[in-house]
Amino acid sequence: MSDHTVTISDSASGKSVECPVYKGTYGAPVFAIKDVPGELGMFTLDPGFAATASCRSAITYLDGEHGILLHRGYPIEQLAEHSTYLEVCYLLLHGELPTREEFEAYERSVEEVAHVHEHINRFYQGYRYDAHPMSMMVGVLGAMASYHHHNLDIWDPENRELTCRRIIGKMPAIAAKCYRYLQGLPFTYTDPTRHHVENFMQMMFSRPNVEYQADPKAVRALDLMMILHADHEQNASTSTVRLAGSAESSPYAAVAAGAATLWGKAHGGANEAVLHMLYEIGDKKNIEKFVARAKDKDDNFRLMGFGHRVYKNYDPRATIIRQACHDVVDNMASSDEPWLFETAMALEEIALKDEYFIERKLYPNVDFYSGIILKALGIPLSMYTVMFAVSRAAGWIAQWKELMEDPEFRIGRPRQLYVGPEKRDYVPIDQR
Ligand code: SDX
Repeated sequence: MSDHTVTISDSASGKSVECPVYKGTYGAPVFAIKDVPGELGMFTLDPGFAATASCRSAITYLDGEHGILLHRGYPIEQLAEHSTYLEVCYLLLHGELPTREEFEAYERSVEEVAHVHEHINRFYQGYRYDAHPMSMMVGVLGAMASYHHHNLDIWDPENRELTCRRIIGKMPAIAAKCYRYLQGLPFTYTDPTRHHVENFMQMMFSRPNVEYQADPKAVRALDLMMILHADHEQNASTSTVRLAGSAESSPYAAVAAGAATLWGKAHGGANEAVLHMLYEIGDKKNIEKFVARAKDKDDNFRLMGFGHRVYKNYDPRATIIRQACHDVVDNMASSDEPWLFETAMALEEIALKDEYFIERKLYPNVDFYSGIILKALGIPLSMYTVMFAVSRAAGWIAQWKELMEDPEFRIGRPRQLYVGPEKRDYVPIDQR
């Protein structure tokens, strides 16, 4: 319900329209503009959708000014400390934390559908031996649509629930196959005796004929990373999944489109780009030069892992990961380049004192430190965004499910401001 309106008036025509204002649980209220075209003959223009709410959602809330992130009302700090990734998946999809019995049943139901059809393995063989694994992830997710297309009625709640479980269950296996293809290792299979994240690590790192022994610290570190990347309201990749879903596309194809969007270095590809940047910086003495480049408008270099469309304060996920870096880097033998973390902290310290970053409220985001933990876990640089995609698949599919159950469901179709040529007649080629 709306308790008041915003009036939009056109000074040229003298016309005006009353737009109903809606308030949410938290955050800025919104005013609905659906009557503006009919009343004023105008559309709104909002490049990058910086000022536009695309939907009502009850899944995740961000407060950019105060660095707050809630999933179904639970603060990310508490979920990071007490929960597991699979429990957060349940929370995102069902809206409540499960009882022990509910969680155990959910864990079994996800494991039951975690295997991937053997024929899917053939898709990997079509990629170059050194292909970027995100290109495999996008391709194989799209291929998944052909394996579940025949019995997929997206308007059937049970089909939707099964699809959500299938995607959450299968993403670790799809990602692990990307990694093993690059490493020249035989593909592995899901192990139902292991919990979700440990199973993921087993599928990634086990060696033929050797019993895989998971390091509990490493499993906890990866589970934490996956909790922190699970959902983030209407970010670019989630908005892509919603737009594809609004056309009633296969949810597998919609998730493939989301993965393609996440790959961009302005979005989920930033975690890999941060490490490339730290390697390019090398010694801490070079930091000032790179900060100067980031401020130079004639240089398209940006400080990877800094800035955020919504957070104009510390990304709460970056704070949690930063602390976890201290624990992981000190304790994990595989952190063979501890200087990376030191350079990252020095870069953060210098940038946060620089007027350019202060003025623009540019703070470290989730990607700034995540690569350091993934590296300490022995995950190669090219796999970082794949790891992000495995985690974010829960958010993508939860948001897709919410879209499909939205009473205001309709196909997304933005308008434009046409600035091209006026109408003109075709000119035969010999007269041009
Ligand atoms: C993720 O949306 C989400 O929630 C995403 C995410 C999720 O969980 O889904 O949180 C994950 O994508 C995190 C962001 C990862 N990307 C990076 O770290 C790449 C580096 N960051 C920038 O590309 C940028 O900050 C964005 C893309 C994140 C945000 O871009 P905006 O909101 O469009 O900001 P902008 O381009 O309008 O920048 C405002 C000003 C500009 O300067 P002026 O024109 O005002 O002088 O800040 C400057 C920008 O040039 N700026 C930067 C900068 N980010 C913004 N300058 C240097 N380095 C940067 N990183």
